[in-house]
Amino acid sequence: MLKIGVLVSGGGSNLQAILDGIEKGIIPNTKVVAVISNKEDAYALERAKQYDIPHMYLNPKDYRTKKDYDQALADYFHAQSVDLIVLAGFTRVLSETFVNQFSNRIMNIHPSLIPSFCGKGYYGLKVHEAALSYGVKVTGATVHFVDLGTDTGPIILQKAVPVLEGDTPEILQRRVMEEAEWQIYPKAIALYAQGRIQIQGRTVKIIEHL
Ligand code: GRF
Repeated sequence: MLKIGVLVSGGGSNLQAILDGIEKGIIPNTKVVAVISNKEDAYALERAKQYDIPHMYLNPKDYRTKKDYDQALADYFHAQSVDLIVLAGFTRVLSETFVNQFSNRIMNIHPSLIPSFCGKGYYGLKVHEAALSYGVKVTGATVHFVDLGTDTGPIILQKAVPVLEGDTPEILQRRVMEEAEWQIYPKAIALYAQGRIQIQGRTVKIIEHL
């Protein structure tokens, strides 16, 4: 059984897609064992509650340093024997100590086709604003492993989404979520749960048939 710990900050629609994927059997042999938010009012916590999943708000202000906060997260996940950490709209960048403790065991979703519109400063609506102002005709989403950089880790899955005339950042964000994020995040976790992901350097190889 793959045990997942999820870090959230907001609405938690990606968390929901993962929970739906588990329920429908798209993600086999997997359980979400912990959901932690750095924001008290994150609706994602409510979703966890509805599914009876242990969840908590951890206030960064209660910790002296970023490192201390991240270690508290890591300690909790270790205590729950978490195998894979899933960042689902988590707005903080994780420190080196945290990432090193879960090397190649942290996944993130980014709402663009990396390496476009990613890295420091590209989060939330800003990503879609940037795509629209650049004038790209195609954008999308990327699931990747987290390494020490921002949005630089090995890419697991990507899905393209068209930019349409009249799109606002909000409309585009919604389309990217519906057509890409909520599809590829459950799929990537399923591949991981099935042991079908191999990392070779910075390249991820998906094993088609076991
Ligand atoms: C998503 O667009 C995700 O790609 C980004 O933050 C947003 C989170 O949305 N990292 P939600 O909280 O999963 O609804």
